[in-house]
Amino acid sequence: EFHLHPREAHLASDGIFGRFDRRQLQRGFQVYKEVCAACHSLRLVAFRDLAALGYNEPEVKAIANQWVIEQPTINPETGEATTRKNIPSDRFPSPFANEVAARAANNNALPPDLSLMAKARHDGGNYIYSLVGPDAYRPQPAALLREFPDVKTPEGLHYNPYFANLNIAMPPPITSDGQVQYSDGTAATRDQMAKDVAAFLTWTAEPNLEKRHAAGFAAMIFIAIFCVLAWGAYQNVWRDVK
Ligand code: HEM
Repeated sequence: EFHLHPREAHLASDGIFGRFDRRQLQRGFQVYKEVCAACHSLRLVAFRDLAALGYNEPEVKAIANQWVIEQPTINPETGEATTRKNIPSDRFPSPFANEVAARAANNNALPPDLSLMAKARHDGGNYIYSLVGPDAYRPQPAALLREFPDVKTPEGLHYNPYFANLNIAMPPPITSDGQVQYSDGTAATRDQMAKDVAAFLTWTAEPNLEKRHAAGFAAMIFIAIFCVLAWGAYQNVWRDVK
């Protein structure tokens, strides 16, 4: 009763006719870039995939080139681990060299890759929106502490009723209105930023969603026509039988 079902983000991609709102995806990408990428990779998404969001080739190149987290690589001369600038065919890298480093920086928790998070969690788009949205992080309810006095949120964790076990290691990522500056003039409220990043991560998890919806629709029309034909054939075959 303390764990809450996700709130509705009402994303444009919802429903059988849902389509992505590209401007929203670009805003969501900006939130990912400026906020989430400090801890989370997108290892199934390449910079060049951003073309689907409406960025042209020079823009994609520039985004990759200016990405703060660089690609891990090996110095061919010395064999030492190092990093280099990103190119469009690179995937969005993790800021941490490995799991040990990631846990060391996050109170022993591991920030998961977000590529498929919208699919990995039930009601994923709405879940991400809720988890980082404006009413997610809050004080532990008094009723919870009354009922279970032992469940005080441990040091270093944060109470979040949308997270399955209620205490999450991720600090509140979206904390103030205007945390990012949108170039399309949309007001960057906390709610808007949470929605936009949820829309973006819905796209990373299923970039072909629009094609799937279109194919499903075509299949329904085909089946409808076939139903009419089958019914006509049935009438025809049994016409002479009393
Ligand atoms: C976990 C999203 C920013 C650290 C997660 C999860 C999601 C998420 C969906 C998985 C929750 C689950 O397992 O169900 C986001 C988004 C961000 C963001 C959308 C940006 C708006 C950050 C930042 C940090 C961070 C900046 C580091 C300071 C973590 C950690 C976990 C986590 C440590 C693991 C939590 C646990 O297992 O208790 N995040 N995150 N996240 N995130 Fe983030």
